Amino acid sequence: MNICVVGTGYVGLVGAAVFADWGHTVCGVDIDEGKITNIKKGVMPIYEDGLGDLVRQHMDLDGLSFTTDISEGMFGAEVVFICVGTPQSKTGAADLSAVWAVAEDIGRCLDPDMYTVVVVKSTVPVGSNEKVKELIGVSAPKSAKFSVVSNPEFLREGSAIWDMNNPDRTVLGIGSSDRLSEEVCRVLFSLYEHLSSPIVWYDLRTAEMIKYASNAFLAMKVTSINEIALMCERVGADVDRVAEGIGLDPRIGPDFLKAGIGYGGSCFPKDVQALMNTAKQTGSPLTIVSAVDAVNDHLPELFVEKVIREFGVNLSGIKIACLGLAFKANTDDVRDSRSIEVIRMLRGHGASIQAYDPRAYGNAVEELGYFGISYVDTMNEALIGADAVVILTEWPEFAELDLLHAKESMKGKVIFDGRNVLDQESVEDMGFTYYCVGKRTNAYEKEPDLVPGIFLPG
Ligand code: UGA
Repeated sequence: MNICVVGTGYVGLVGAAVFADWGHTVCGVDIDEGKITNIKKGVMPIYEDGLGDLVRQHMDLDGLSFTTDISEGMFGAEVVFICVGTPQSKTGAADLSAVWAVAEDIGRCLDPDMYTVVVVKSTVPVGSNEKVKELIGVSAPKSAKFSVVSNPEFLREGSAIWDMNNPDRTVLGIGSSDRLSEEVCRVLFSLYEHLSSPIVWYDLRTAEMIKYASNAFLAMKVTSINEIALMCERVGADVDRVAEGIGLDPRIGPDFLKAGIGYGGSCFPKDVQALMNTAKQTGSPLTIVSAVDAVNDHLPELFVEKVIREFGVNLSGIKIACLGLAFKANTDDVRDSRSIEVIRMLRGHGASIQAYDPRAYGNAVEELGYFGISYVDTMNEALIGADAVVILTEWPEFAELDLLHAKESMKGKVIFDGRNVLDQESVEDMGFTYYCVGKRTNAYEKEPDLVPGIFLPG
């Protein structure tokens, strides 16, 4: 099948490469000339394990091409995917200008002699797919035949290729007038019939809500354990074991219960905001989702308070090794990264930073600049002369921190583990003062027990 994918960001580029890998002929379109020039040279705009190889392989086999010209990309395409970004606007609502512009372009380029199925993968608020259909209709030639289908994506950065090949489910939103369309059924069948997981289809608005509700639920799950972690610190319970204990209940499940310094990235924060915005507009406020957003926002500050507790509010003269800049492991993405937030706060208190991340250095420099921050190439370099180590991203190599070596190269002996990657006992045995998330460690030794007394009746 001939496929056109408009937008070569995370979703679009991974989608284009995987569709080509499934045997389709794919053309990726983007208005960013620099990006397309680089992709054609085999240079990927994002770090995603395996993506560069897959793109280069299918470009060499002529199954995958790229262009900045949408009419060229859509030539002969039976299906066109809209995968452009929907960033957060100043009001918190999703900025849909790119989606609307692409819808109009698609309309203009529709071939009146073909049936075209337009599939919206961009994350768009309820009602947007109907508007996409309307806009395409306005700019399309009178005789053009097309349908609009919603197909939200659930890829995670860092495992996007695997996720696309092994989805939990494929969600489709199909308007009532398109449900019996032979062309829509044929296109969707030839795209997804080889997948072994369920394919479910609903109306357009339900499919749009599923995407937002999924991210809101996941954000809620992470935030719930993060809030429980705050209480664990107070009462002397261990949040990792609490997560294990509650996760054994299949109604709760073990995933997404890793406590830390909050969720970040290009999806959860913006999608939660966009959902709250739609909720407000529709007079149906989402109280729980708003609380999730507020709690998550506060977590970096609570983490920095641990550093202040140890060193005082004025951190000038304190050198801190910051491990991790990306919003999570296995990506170079720093959008809404909690690490960036924490480093900004530490800088605000005057600390000097030695930062290390295996992948995200380039993107982090754009956010943080160089003032008061030196970026180093290895974890060991970051430790040299540091008064403290702050772990901000759960990169596997940080769990391998050589404590003996750290002790020798650092000036101080304090570790703040914002992702609970280290083993508390080993760290404390090595003589470090250890702060982490959701556990009472040796840092609190001299504090009174906060568990309220239990009074027996009579
Ligand atoms: C998320 C969803 O997981 C995908 O299903 C969805 O397709 C994507 O958003 C999207 O809307 O495009 P992603 O942003 O790549 O994917 O990241 P996640 O792996 O979900 O992690 C989000 C944040 O939660 C990260 O900051 C991560 O560190 C944090 N997190 C996650 C925790 O703090 N603890 C956990 O147990 C899990």
